[in-house]
Amino acid sequence: MEKLEIIGGKRLFGEIDVCGAKNAAVAVIPAALLVDGVCRIENVPNIKDVKLITQMLSYLGAKVEHIDETTISIDASRLTTHIAAYDMASRMRASYYLLGALLGRLHKAEVALPGGCNFGQRPINLHEKGFRALGAQVATVRGQVIATAEGLKGNNIYLDTASVGATINIMLAAALAEGRTVIENAAREPHIVDVANFLNTMGANVRGAGTDVIRINGVEKMHGGTYSIIPDQIEAGTFMLAAAAAGGNVLVKNVIPKHMESVVSKLEEMGVKVTEYDDSIRVERDGDVHGVRVKTNYYPGFPTDMQPQMVALLSTASGTSIMTEDVWENRFQYIGELQRMGADIRVEGKSAIINGGRLCGAPVRATDLRAGAAMIIAGLAAEGKTVINDPHYIDRGYSCIESRLRSIGASIERVYEV
Ligand code: EPU
Repeated sequence: MEKLEIIGGKRLFGEIDVCGAKNAAVAVIPAALLVDGVCRIENVPNIKDVKLITQMLSYLGAKVEHIDETTISIDASRLTTHIAAYDMASRMRASYYLLGALLGRLHKAEVALPGGCNFGQRPINLHEKGFRALGAQVATVRGQVIATAEGLKGNNIYLDTASVGATINIMLAAALAEGRTVIENAAREPHIVDVANFLNTMGANVRGAGTDVIRINGVEKMHGGTYSIIPDQIEAGTFMLAAAAAGGNVLVKNVIPKHMESVVSKLEEMGVKVTEYDDSIRVERDGDVHGVRVKTNYYPGFPTDMQPQMVALLSTASGTSIMTEDVWENRFQYIGELQRMGADIRVEGKSAIINGGRLCGAPVRATDLRAGAAMIIAGLAAEGKTVINDPHYIDRGYSCIESRLRSIGASIERVYEV
């Protein structure tokens, strides 16, 4: 059994590079299914979720080659099936992008209901609404989502919630559809823009990504090309908060500072010193920081995927903080783990009320990906030894997390027990 062992209380110093964005990569890779030619994709993070989605493409008949650690090529010219492998698809959330991509390319798709981190209901009704508006029939039969269409025709689609997944899936299904599709109340996250840029590089015509109205003018065919994934906004934020929690002076490199505004603003409000450069951000903490109120929201709001890490940091800040989760209905399951480390937190409805203080090392569990990142941050700040069980959740989204944190002075090891 694998575990991560952290000896806390060591300040962090040095430079750390951010990898390509997980949530962009897991959408751009399936988007390559739309392309009749070879897509070379660079800055791909070396994480479990990416391995799984590339395996799913191979299963569909795409030729996937790993050129180096962060570059892959995908040739989906000859697909052999429209049915995704059940065991792989049901293990990750982003497998839902195979629906939009296969429907767009082959006009038929069969993909298991998606798995992934569990924080309350994770419906896909808006994805289905979009596919139906484009002319597809969609049904769920014994856990498989089945979508078929004679042909796809552009349409106007209003999303009741600015869903990241539905916005991307509709872009994928509409890229090769006949005529124009307009998505209103579209999500605006940086990875939406990244997927649109990828599609356009390969010959699609997508306009307005990054605003709440996206227009897709269907094209007949897309061609191969080269594309580089944006840096991971959430990984960058995780390292910034790790430096703020443990103290020290860390330069987080390969970031797009614009994507980090909500996180930077909260760190500064807490009294952490943040300096922005063109493509890096320095975080310095020396001494006490104080609690703040934070509310998660859609981009450009404070990301829900930084919520657990922020609660870990706020547990070390003086005074009372309030974290309100407004995107997911149940994303506080990890709080019991922070309480094992001495955190004084109570949950009232959508909010966690945190009375900051000192944390002490304890055995804890990574209950999901970002909760696992929060345990690392808490462990780095705590006194003594923290043992994180189930680190495989963390590996889904962070590449070689322990060696990268060690390079800035953290004492963190992966241990194997039989
Ligand atoms: N929603 C619906 N109907 C739908 C889809 C979503 O009601 O058909 C609701 C959800 O219940 C939720 C809200 O809309 O309340 C937002 O969900 P969204 O669809 O935006 O989330 P997602 O696409 O399933 C992605 C990320 C998550 C991240 C959310 C929100 C990927 C693979 N996952 O999920 O990332 O929390 O957007 O930003 O891109 C993570 O990386 O740790 C992670 C969980």
